[in-house]
Amino acid sequence: MLRLGDEAPNFTARSTQGPISLSDYRGRWLVLFSHPADFTPVCTSEFVALAKAAGEFAALDCALMALSVDSLYSHLAWIRLIHDMFGVTVDFPIIEDPTLEIARAYGMIGCDAVDAAAVRTTYFLDPDGVLRASTCYPAEVGRSVDEMLRILTALQRVHRGSCLVPANWTPGDDLLRVPRASVAEIVKEKNAGDWFYTTIPDKGAA
Ligand code: BEZ
Repeated sequence: MLRLGDEAPNFTARSTQGPISLSDYRGRWLVLFSHPADFTPVCTSEFVALAKAAGEFAALDCALMALSVDSLYSHLAWIRLIHDMFGVTVDFPIIEDPTLEIARAYGMIGCDAVDAAAVRTTYFLDPDGVLRASTCYPAEVGRSVDEMLRILTALQRVHRGSCLVPANWTPGDDLLRVPRASVAEIVKEKNAGDWFYTTIPDKGAA
């Protein structure tokens, strides 16, 4: 089971964009997500939504990569159908994992599922390939692309180490300052609670 702070296991696999390795993505943020099966309604809605939002992930210097047990040819046929039905091209890679080798290495199978077809897991990897957040949804519930973008943006803000992200934060909202950690610092604060709770403006990606 992959845990927060772990380096994600490398792999090489066939995908709809040709052979790829996880290590090719070093230096960029990556959202790696599994879906239960091609040609299913919830998964189709997710892929349409993610394809439409691909530019927003790219603007955050984040790549998308999908994975399921279905074969490469199944992925390609499904992507063609999505193109014809919805007028969107899914141009992020979709990996085939027929032996479940990758899914098992990441602990996707054990997350909430009785079999591989019930897994809807999302991994947010930083530019060093380290797992910074993950979500696990049941097959019946589609993910929110807005929430994926919100988590990614929040992770990028805290990655610098100088701020924290409060509840219900969305980009542009105030952040929280990292608490002061010494008596010398806390006695200088104006109010008694300022040392551990002070809001600071969100300066964006700066
Ligand atoms: C779906 O994506 O619609 C789905 C996939 C597997 C089981 C149930 C629903």
